[in-house]
Amino acid sequence: MRHSNLKGFPKDFLWSASTSAYQVEGAWNEAGKGRSVQDVKTSYPEGTSDFKVASDHYHHMEEDIALLAEMGLKAYRFSIAWTRIIPDGDGEINKEGVKFYHKLIDECLKHNIEPIVTMYHFDLPFELEKKGGWSSRATIDAFLKFSKVLFEEYGSKVKYFLTINEQNMMILHGSVIGTTAEENDNRWKIAYQQNHHMLVAQAKAMELCHTICPNSKIGPAPNISSVYPASSKPEDYLAAQNFTAIRNWLYLDMAVFGRYNATAWSYFEEIDAVPKIEEGDMEALKNAKPDFIAFNYYSTATVKANNYDKNAKDLTGDQQLALGEAGVFEGAKNPNLEKTQFGWEIDPIGFRITLREVYDRYQLPIIITENGLGAFDKLEDGTVHDAYRIEYYKKHLHEIKEALTDGVKVFGYSPWSAIDLVSTHQGVTKRYGFIYVNRDEFDLKDLKRYKKDSFHWYKKTIEENGGNIE
Ligand code: BG6
Repeated sequence: MRHSNLKGFPKDFLWSASTSAYQVEGAWNEAGKGRSVQDVKTSYPEGTSDFKVASDHYHHMEEDIALLAEMGLKAYRFSIAWTRIIPDGDGEINKEGVKFYHKLIDECLKHNIEPIVTMYHFDLPFELEKKGGWSSRATIDAFLKFSKVLFEEYGSKVKYFLTINEQNMMILHGSVIGTTAEENDNRWKIAYQQNHHMLVAQAKAMELCHTICPNSKIGPAPNISSVYPASSKPEDYLAAQNFTAIRNWLYLDMAVFGRYNATAWSYFEEIDAVPKIEEGDMEALKNAKPDFIAFNYYSTATVKANNYDKNAKDLTGDQQLALGEAGVFEGAKNPNLEKTQFGWEIDPIGFRITLREVYDRYQLPIIITENGLGAFDKLEDGTVHDAYRIEYYKKHLHEIKEALTDGVKVFGYSPWSAIDLVSTHQGVTKRYGFIYVNRDEFDLKDLKRYKKDSFHWYKKTIEENGGNIE
């Protein structure tokens, strides 16, 4: 639908920006912090840094928040490192860790920045992982213990909590993100059991939040993207439905409606990955009610029918790579989309499509908690001329306006990332921030902060409530 007049952004729109603890904080073993699964990795993709120092935000916190305030942010989304609060995941509380996040939250509030807290962003305590991680039901209780501390400590100051960042990506791509140990033959059986435990943990945490801090709001934060069929062949459309169910709706149907998506469930049956559900689980899942949906959006996906025989042993490497899931879907390229320097497809219109799909299905207010462009930024004369990033944001914000005019309720936008940080698996060189951090992969330099062109542009965007994006 082409609208003749686009609605503007709501007056109280939350102009925000995002980070996550392990990718930005550094200080990985300071002030009583325990090790997370991200701290114990022994190998990293060639040429990329570990997360030990990251952007050293832990030691630059006041300076960083002052910069975010200067940029005019109305909100800041960050995550709390579970291992700073409870170093071994389910034992003693670390007072120093609790204090750090009080300081961070207070610093935000001092500058009139609304803190948006992600409770868990890819950094499960290693001590829990050693005891089985999400395969063990004990991790549900550990997460609730951690949640209780967060709600009791910060609930009176934090209006928005996000439960689990990109649970769907941890399940589908855990070995790339570093959240799953090695893949093995039983991969899906294990993964969907872990998934079930995470869903139960999330549901119980949402209820707990409503009990302990009734003035706070809470929601899930998966990575959602619409899935296109590669052609108008009905088989390809079916493949797109399959992938949408196991990539998107499995997670959100459960968070919102408290039930397993039927297509996803039939897929579990087909691949022998039906999770074991214990008494009380479905009730807990049903009782939990999110106040909003947060989702991260980078691009859409395109798939086609997959007719490979899953038992065939003579596939070439390329065929295996393209395989997706035999009989379910096969990944395809979308020739209509441009790509980033890192090969990620860019699809602003797909953003509007995704927003419409999510809102039509769930009718809950939406906040976008990630969207952004990773690039090889170059520091020149004390700044970065990142016109490409500004262009990317303008196009995506335009599509939010289209979606708002379509009737979708979007109440905030929190691009990735507020400040340069370490990418999940592509190092520091893949930069996303509005603020440049002066370090290389292995040379920490002086970690000085520089405002990029996009910093000034976003500041103006916020001042004009999006008036400058057309
Ligand atoms: C999201 C994650 O998947 O995408 C972030 O929530 C991540 O943690 C971001 O950094 C960008 O991905 P990458 O792999 O380029 O860092």
